[in-house]
Amino acid sequence: MIAAVSQSFVLRAHLLWWNDDPFFAGQSAQISVPDGAMAVGADGRIAWVGEAANLPNDYTAWPEVDRRGTVVLPGFIDAHLHFPQSAIIGAYGTDLLHWLDTYTFPEESRFGDQAHAASIAAIFADTLLRYGVTSACVFSTIHPVALEELAAAFHSRGMGLLSGKTAMDRNAIPTLHDTAQSAYDDAKVLLEALEPQYDRFGYVVTPRFAITSTEAQLDVCGSLHAEFPHTRMQTHINESAREIATVAQLFPNDASYLDVYDRFGLVTDRSLFAHGIHTTEAEMARMAEAGAAVVHCPTSNTFLGSGLFNPGANRAAGVNIGIGCDIGGGTHFSPFVTMQEAYKVARFHDQSLTAAETYYWHTLGNARAMKTNREAGSLAAGKWADFIVLSDPDDDPIAALRLAHAETVEQRLFAYQFFAPQIQTWTRGIQRT
Ligand code: GUN
Ligand code: ZN
Repeated sequence: MIAAVSQSFVLRAHLLWWNDDPFFAGQSAQISVPDGAMAVGADGRIAWVGEAANLPNDYTAWPEVDRRGTVVLPGFIDAHLHFPQSAIIGAYGTDLLHWLDTYTFPEESRFGDQAHAASIAAIFADTLLRYGVTSACVFSTIHPVALEELAAAFHSRGMGLLSGKTAMDRNAIPTLHDTAQSAYDDAKVLLEALEPQYDRFGYVVTPRFAITSTEAQLDVCGSLHAEFPHTRMQTHINESAREIATVAQLFPNDASYLDVYDRFGLVTDRSLFAHGIHTTEAEMARMAEAGAAVVHCPTSNTFLGSGLFNPGANRAAGVNIGIGCDIGGGTHFSPFVTMQEAYKVARFHDQSLTAAETYYWHTLGNARAMKTNREAGSLAAGKWADFIVLSDPDDDPIAALRLAHAETVEQRLFAYQFFAPQIQTWTRGIQRT
């Protein structure tokens, strides 16, 4: 990590961001300023952004950070991944439930140990920064200490974090079970301690999924989410065939998987549902009505063989879409790899995602899904100065051949999904990598 003191400056570069979903809003959603300037205040926030020629007098005396020749985007946001799964990426096996039982639950059991949690949290946060991710919505474990270490690691790097203690009181392994009561009590203590301590931390009510929570636990999660109306809610849904069949057995009186969550007040405009591959039309309609988001996790879905998420069907139903790497079911931290896989998965539905569409998902789209779009997701005055400086890879002759075909910035960004660029990552106006 590059240590630096926050100070005001004017960044010069080709600035590019999205202020709306380009799939629906078209070309006007994309703001591209080839000879751009961005004034960043000592408070770590964007003070002004626009054409360099129009830089107001207030900022002309600020020192210049010259990155002309690069493209600067808002920092990437990841809407779904698991920090305690950093060590089990690419573990051989069969489907989701086998992978959870064999690798995930034993690994997550280790996170009651503070030193272990702190060491993985540091590696996890550093890795995200290396790949240009400046804020994220993250799963921790049942252990309060794991969330405390994760929050401290993100804070010390200037990153934004949404997370919560995972609630799971059945169907895992005994060392990874809490109770309905402890899930409620611990969450409240953590929320009230961490939110005042860290200005970029937001609490997320986190029942792992319907299989690992009793009705009593889902009930207290719904109560927490209602009692603290700013909290987000994250869980998993409709990921694999065996998972869906198990939920139907455990909750025989609910018409659908989503209905289980809905019955406990967990389907709101602050809800994030990971995967949503096999979601029915009725479930999509309900998610759209509630303003909930589905989070597409393509490398996880292909690795575990869970299925092929359908962007078109979710868009047609009006569901908000986010995107995440879902480490460790997912196989790479890099948003470029995640976007590449999203492109491939969409092709199986005869759909083709443009660079604008995938980069929008990984910036403002995720901020909207996570309800952090007032603070992050685009290069707009008032938001945190979270941004990434991208330049062509310098050691890859095949990448050079491919990028020679890129005539427009959109074509360059599209190719970066397959030939990742060099990345410098800044959070709160400070260069971190
Ligand atoms: N469903 C419940 N828990 C998990 C998890 O850790 N990873 C994935 N991919 N799906 C889940
Ligand atoms: Zn997950």
